[in-house]
Amino acid sequence: MAEVNNWQLGRKMWYPYEEKHPEWQFAFVFNINRCIACQTCTMACKSTWTFSKGQEFMWWNNVETKPYGGYPQFWDQKGMHLLDKANPGRQAWNSSGDGFYGTYKGTTIFEAPTAKQRERGQIAVGYVPTDKEWRFPNIYEDTAAGDTSMDLYTDHGKKGNYNWTKGEELPEHTGRWFHYLQRLCNHCTYPGCLGACPRKAIYKRQQDGIVLIDQNRCRGYRKCVEQCPFKKPMYRSTTRISEKCIACYPRVEGKDPISGGHPMETRCMAACVGQIRMQGLVKIDENGEWKKDRYSPLYYLIKVAKIALPLYPQFGTEPNGYYIPSRVAPRDYSKQMFGPGTDHAVDLYLAPDRETLAVLNLFRKTQKIIFKYAIQEGPKVWETQINGKHFTMYNDTVIGYGKNGEEIVRTTIEEPIHIRPEKHITSI
Ligand code: SF4
Ligand code: SF4
Ligand code: SF4
Ligand code: F3S
Repeated sequence: MAEVNNWQLGRKMWYPYEEKHPEWQFAFVFNINRCIACQTCTMACKSTWTFSKGQEFMWWNNVETKPYGGYPQFWDQKGMHLLDKANPGRQAWNSSGDGFYGTYKGTTIFEAPTAKQRERGQIAVGYVPTDKEWRFPNIYEDTAAGDTSMDLYTDHGKKGNYNWTKGEELPEHTGRWFHYLQRLCNHCTYPGCLGACPRKAIYKRQQDGIVLIDQNRCRGYRKCVEQCPFKKPMYRSTTRISEKCIACYPRVEGKDPISGGHPMETRCMAACVGQIRMQGLVKIDENGEWKKDRYSPLYYLIKVAKIALPLYPQFGTEPNGYYIPSRVAPRDYSKQMFGPGTDHAVDLYLAPDRETLAVLNLFRKTQKIIFKYAIQEGPKVWETQINGKHFTMYNDTVIGYGKNGEEIVRTTIEEPIHIRPEKHITSI
């Protein structure tokens, strides 16, 4: 039983184990705005890891449509209701607090159990989804927000029964919105699943922070399913034990036959058609802080530009999945999901500065993990005003480097134009 430091919340919190941090941490950034919900990522994972008997409803990677879709259905609303039950109406942030995004004044899943629940060994609040909730991985696909009311928990606390009443009919779309949410295990710093397992069958790897279920120790107690707020451990009825995303660890270790020993991004990342995903490893110090690494693309996007934000940080697990929020969703809705950093992140995404635009152009240019980047300045090619902000585009060259400092990718902001030669004019 310990007080641990959660930098995303800007404060200490209760967790069942003492702090112990890995040397590197598996982390990723998803750009919500670019996703086309093609589900290539979902199928890349499924065809690699979960195609066997008993895994029919097991989708370690899924892409759902917000605000109504979810796999399992209602996972996030149900999680927030549990926090609200423990501490009614007070899940709010002090944005001017000392923390990185301010200070979270509400209750985390680890702080919410009652004394009686704690006596019975309950580490965090949670619930086990019903079979029906697991059966529809893509329910409400492409359903825009309309008049249905839902509870909203913003950075100022609870706003009950929120209605998006400005829905409009075709051909106008201005009042309607939805966005896709791409999800996998967040390989959290303080995993709810790991804390909850009475068998101590879940562990976090020292070399890369990847969270795994030991298939030999697991006895199918499903406390991990109950107390992961993201609902990413999944029970398999044919083996009676639970399974979860393994972060494609052979690829991250550089053991994939095509990697030549270099750490590779996972299957779901590498397959992304919309080029929305970048995954990497970030350096962690003994206190759990990110070591300063100014030219690591993930460090830059998350810690310097602050354009990518953690998913539901208020749950308290310190998730290592970060998102560039939707530019079309109402800000209150995005703040519920990503906290008080939302306004800055969306505004920056709408009119990115020169360095941010360059780093965003590294997404999906290689399957290898990029550890560092450098920018070679190019000529100015365009300027305009976006939402009253001046935006200038330069055709810079961005270079990505691998673990040992070797160049692994080079790209320009403007896509190169290839003119088809006369003799191939009718061929492809
Ligand atoms: Fe565990 Fe859930 Fe966090 Fe993954 S997302 S590490 S399953 S608590
Ligand atoms: Fe599946 Fe690998 Fe992606 Fe995890 S990281 S969801 S195991 S493809
Ligand atoms: Fe979205 Fe990429 Fe997955 Fe397609 S492959 S659904 S674009 S995250
Ligand atoms: Fe533990 Fe979850 Fe297995 S709680 S025993 S890892 S099902």
